[in-house]
Formats: sequence, structure tokens, C-alpha cells
Amino acid sequence: MRIEIDNLGKTYGRSHPALDSVRLDLRSPSMIGLVGPNGAGKTTLMQLLVGQMLASAGTVRVDGADLQGLGKAFRRRLGYLPQNFGLYDELTVRQFLDYLGCLKGLPAPRRDVIAACIERAALTEKADARIRTLSGGQKQRVGIAQAMLNDPELLIVDEPTVGLDPEERIRFRNLFSRDAGRRLVILSTHIIEDVESICNRLIVLHQGRIRFDGAPSELVRRAEGHVGVIEVQGEREAAFEGRFRLTGRVVTAQGAACRIVGHDLPPGCRPVTPTLEDAYIYSMSNGAAS
Ligand SMILES: Nc1ncnc2c1ncn2[C@@H]1O[C@H](COP(=O)(O)OP(=O)(O)OP(=O)(O)O)[C@@H](O)[C@H]1O
Ligand SMILES: [Mg+2]
Repeated sequence: MRIEIDNLGKTYGRSHPALDSVRLDLRSPSMIGLVGPNGAGKTTLMQLLVGQMLASAGTVRVDGADLQGLGKAFRRRLGYLPQNFGLYDELTVRQFLDYLGCLKGLPAPRRDVIAACIERAALTEKADARIRTLSGGQKQRVGIAQAMLNDPELLIVDEPTVGLDPEERIRFRNLFSRDAGRRLVILSTHIIEDVESICNRLIVLHQGRIRFDGAPSELVRRAEGHVGVIEVQGEREAAFEGRFRLTGRVVTAQGAACRIVGHDLPPGCRPVTPTLEDAYIYSMSNGAAS
């Protein structure tokens, strides 16, 4: 599958554009991490890609055809986990997945497909429990399960790992990445570790525009020389505020060892290898264009 996004824009009412002149060429197989601060436009972009909302400008083409004209045929190839999805509280997990399977056009009998899906999402014990009795993380698993129900070619998941415990987060990450070999997966997240461990491409959105698009290692490379550790005591630390971003602070006998990110590091600062998180913070602070 290939998705060509050209000059895509979305403006809600009379406000600032939520998405502005976005150009992207997405091809399977690929595992794409979409990151950016709150309000950057991640959910808006995803809603436009799944055809849930109309764009204010630009086009989205799927394998050469305009997304708007695709309708049902496209939805059959799509799995989508919205950021805030409603669940039918009174249905059991099994009933809910069967209902969604029906809506997605999965042929009956769906029993085996649904059982396998429940198992993959580690919900076997809760299969016949009503959704309202599940914990937040378990509900999130139901959301992920429904997105993968039709074995989609295009999987768009908006903050799928929110609310999952670390073990589950790792399990789902592996599940997404295992499928990425034959899919196009777009995953939005605030957890840089999610990107680090499975994504081969990173897209950073900032105020509706693309700030970076490339390999995570490339973002790290751009931050080299802009991340360092400096030992500080008392008031000297205050002098850094505003000039640098602090990404770590370890208390020491002398004061504190601060990990700072900035364009020009101060004298006495020992440069260190940036992590992807440092690199993301750096891209936010200096406007590193892709
Ligand atoms: N339905 C809406 N009506 C008006 N403005 C909206 C609507 N949805 C989003 N916005 C605005 O559009 C911008 C982008 O929002 P969006 O939800 O796409 O951001 P996001 O990157 O997904 O943020 P988060 O990380 O908080 O989920 C924000 O400024 C937001 O206030
Ligand atoms: Mg969002």
C-alpha cells in the first residue's frame, strides 16, 4: 500500500490551522512513529487518513486513487484505534468484537477469528466479562484487538500504549512490529521508547507542520554535540533555565549532574551521546527541519 499526502491542511473553525501543508509519502512495509507535543495535529492527521473527517486543503491518495472515493473497499483494508473510543459497556468483550467484526464485513462464522484475536490481546480471561467491568488498560487492549480484527494492511493507532503496564506495552509493541513486515503501521505516541524499539521511520509534528521525517537514528545524529552533562551547584543551575532544556538531573555530593540540551553547550559541559528523547527535545527547541 502507498499513501501519498499532498499539501494536506485542516482548520477547525476560525482558529489556527491544526494541520498545515503536510506532504508525506508512506509505503508498506513500514512502521511509522508519529510524535509531537499535545495539540501538534497527530490525531487530526490520523482522522484525515482514515477518512473520518474532511480536509480543508490538499489530497490523500491511496495506491493512486483519491481517498474520498474509496469508501467501503478502503475500510476493509484499514484498522483504526481512535484516541478516545467509546466502548459498549454492557456488551462482553466477545460480543463487542463480534459486533465490530460484523460492521467491518468479516464473514460469519467469526468465532475462531474472534477467539484468536482475544488471545492475541491477552484478554482470554476477560472474554465473557462486560466491558464496563474492565480496567483502563484492559479496555485499551480491547481497542487494539478491534483495530487488528480484520488483519488490516493499514493499521493506524492513536496512542495505543496509553494506560498499558510496561509488560503489556512491550507485548503490544512486538505485536505491531511483527505485523509491520506486511503492513503499513502508523502509531502515534508520547512514549519515545515505543518509537525507539520498533519504528523505522519517525515523523515529528509541531503546530500542524512536519518538523522531521526520517530514520530515528538521523534525528539522533542531528542532536550530536548538542547534548551534554554538566556538574552544577546552587545558583548556577538557575542560569541554565531558559537557555537549555534539562532532560535529566542526578543529585551528587557536590550538587547535581544536569543533562542539558541546547544549540551551544556551555563551557565545562561534557558532550554525551544523545538518546532519541534528547534528540526529540532538541528538535523541538531549535526547529530542526527535515
Ligand atoms: N474538533 C475540534 N474542534 C476544534 N479544534 C480542534 C478539534 N480537534 C482538534 N482541535 C485543535 O487542533 C489542534 C490539533 O489537535 P490534535 O487533537 O490533532 O492534536 P494531537 O497532536 O493529537 O494532540 P494530543 O497529543 O494531545 O493528542 C489543537 O490545537 C486542537 O485544539
Ligand atoms: Mg491526539
